[in-house]
Amino acid sequence: MSRILQSILLLLPVVKGLNQIPLSDEDNNNDLAGNPIFDGWYADPEARIFDSQYWIYPTYSAAYEDQTFFDAFSSPNLLTWTKHTSILNFSGVPWSTNRAAWAPSVARRRRPTKSNNGEDGPEYDYFMYFSAGDGAGIGVAKSITGLPEGPFVDAIGKPLVPDTVYGAEAIDPQLFQDDDDGRVWLYYGGWSHAVIVELNDDMVSLKGEYLEITPGGYVEGPWMLKREGIYYFMYSVGGWGDSSYGVSYVSGPSPTGPFSPTPTKVLSGNDAVGYGTGHHSVFTPDGEDYYIVYHRRHLNDTARDHRVVCIDRMEFDRHGNILPVNITIAGVEGRLLE
Ligand SMILES: *[C@@H]1O[C@H](CO)[C@@H](O)[C@H](O)[C@H]1NC(C)=O
Ligand SMILES: *[C@@H]1O[C@H](CO)[C@@H](O)[C@H](O)[C@H]1NC(C)=O
Ligand SMILES: *[C@@H]1O[C@H](CO)[C@@H](O)[C@H](O)[C@H]1NC(C)=O
Repeated sequence: MSRILQSILLLLPVVKGLNQIPLSDEDNNNDLAGNPIFDGWYADPEARIFDSQYWIYPTYSAAYEDQTFFDAFSSPNLLTWTKHTSILNFSGVPWSTNRAAWAPSVARRRRPTKSNNGEDGPEYDYFMYFSAGDGAGIGVAKSITGLPEGPFVDAIGKPLVPDTVYGAEAIDPQLFQDDDDGRVWLYYGGWSHAVIVELNDDMVSLKGEYLEITPGGYVEGPWMLKREGIYYFMYSVGGWGDSSYGVSYVSGPSPTGPFSPTPTKVLSGNDAVGYGTGHHSVFTPDGEDYYIVYHRRHLNDTARDHRVVCIDRMEFDRHGNILPVNITIAGVEGRLLE
């Protein structure tokens, strides 16, 4: 699609009601998303693309006892976001201790072939992995509608990961499905330890043993990104409440490593834009352009829970190294999905 045509298409939802459609990005600022991308205090954003929509599943950033649910946000174009409230409510998850709902990860699995009665149900099942109770465990919930907005309900009635293993607090899950072999991996871990464990095809039970994979400087917030056969293990470093918070990565030939010994830092705050940049995720609409979604803090604001969700571009050099991200206030250009 030509760039001009793409700009017009992108702007249609934004400028409806105006009778002039700007012809290029330079003519109009409306087609930049701006950071933060939506209102409200949210953190730990996980981005996914499902059915031609961008989805963000964040932590509601508040006092632990007020973190009793998850909201989600969806967008067709990175410009306008729809809030889906309370897609998982901890009141239905007794073991959660009804507090500290953190860092959800949502994945879908194609349903086995259709049932004998020939009914056409949803094509996928959606699963949410989530941290509860600041150490009560990592749980798994399933969408009861077969849709990415849920609502989700606890799938097994107990934590999937109940205990501290290898010193890793059972928080910050990321579900990663390897497109090479269909294997399903859960990355997680706080308290400066990272652990990986394989899941069964049912998505709700553990298959393998826990394996510690803690890279240098690791604190929390793991994110596995696979690109051109390379496994980039990304994670948050520093202290989540201050300007030391950032994102580093190591890389390797498989989901479990071995990973390169020296981490590279790719996300940091600065004195012009914001600080406390971390707990990120990555998405790509086309396998060529990459975006990093992360939370940060306003320069003028030191309140503990005042974290906002931002998106910027993430680029690779020609050797496949991730380049340091330029964080912005203007944000990224709008972009429709195919
Ligand atoms: C969660 O469910 C409880 C019990 O039904 C309800 O009181 C509460 O308002 C719900 N929370 C949200 C955020 O919807
Ligand atoms: C703090 O900075 C943010 C973003 O720049 C701005 O929206 C907000 O109004 C500022 N708040 C105060 C109290 O100056
Ligand atoms: C970041 O900004 C610098 C200075 O404008 C530029 O040279 C560099 O290419 C940018 N990096 C990325 C990854 O866009």
